[in-house]
Amino acid sequence: MTQHFIVIGNPIAHSKSPEIHQQFAAQLGIDIRYSRQLCPDNSDSFTAVVEAFFNGGGVGANVTVPFKQLAYQLCLNRGRLSSHAAVAGAVNTLLLKDGELYGDNTDGQGLVNHLQALDWPLAAAKVALIGAGGAARGVILPIIEAGVNTITIANRTVHKAESLIDALQSADPTLAKAELHSSGIDELDGHFDIIINATSIGLSGATLPLPASLSCDYAYDMMYGRSLPFLQHFADLGSVTSEGFGMLVGQAALSFERWTNKAVDVEAALQALHYD
Ligand code: ATR
Repeated sequence: MTQHFIVIGNPIAHSKSPEIHQQFAAQLGIDIRYSRQLCPDNSDSFTAVVEAFFNGGGVGANVTVPFKQLAYQLCLNRGRLSSHAAVAGAVNTLLLKDGELYGDNTDGQGLVNHLQALDWPLAAAKVALIGAGGAARGVILPIIEAGVNTITIANRTVHKAESLIDALQSADPTLAKAELHSSGIDELDGHFDIIINATSIGLSGATLPLPASLSCDYAYDMMYGRSLPFLQHFADLGSVTSEGFGMLVGQAALSFERWTNKAVDVEAALQALHYD
């Protein structure tokens, strides 16, 4: 029987999720339909879309911009949340568990799985995470769980980095013990093992004010599919770099596994999707 899935967003036409999930389904011999669901940008419409989808027999939904926080609120009020979704304050994966709406967030673990597949050393790594919005927040707990022990959160608006650290450390015992620092982007200094760009700057074409004294072994941009000045900057300094397509496929694989209880071969999917 065909299993139905959707990704809910606004805009949604650009989403690569249907292509990625069809790839997983083909790999596992499962018959699925995975559609893009445009939704008006308000809470009532989002709730109505989610209810109609699951009442109609839908198996799983992905949630993307601008609905991840609304999906979190919906699960907080009417369902349940995974620990990653609770700490992230955002949900990217919805399913029914024991008849109840369940929200998970696979973005951060998708990043960690990609970094591990790239063989970038995470244990005891000193990491700078640039950005303090939803994308940054979602990856902090999984990175710490993967063995990173020091993260400097650098943001254009420094007080947002400070508030994020306060919020995270009171939300989860693992993070209460982690070494988290805040900084301005232009105040970042010295050498880091890994620097991750979790800002949305790649969408604007602007460049980050990266200090000349800043260096790293590895630089990762959570954006993908366009020329990324952040990666070019560090590639010119000799760092190993990666864009975020592997994170996108990694988070999708984890959603697919939550929905179907079947393990996806992410490497094979990346190759089939013409990325490696
Ligand atoms: P997302 O869900 O993608 O994280 P967001 O919550 O709006 O989106 O956060 C966007 C992040 O990108 C923020 O850290 C933002 O910095 P501010 O908090 O100072 O706004 C960062 N960002 C966006 N445009 C930027 C720019 N031109 N320069 C530096 N940082 C930028």
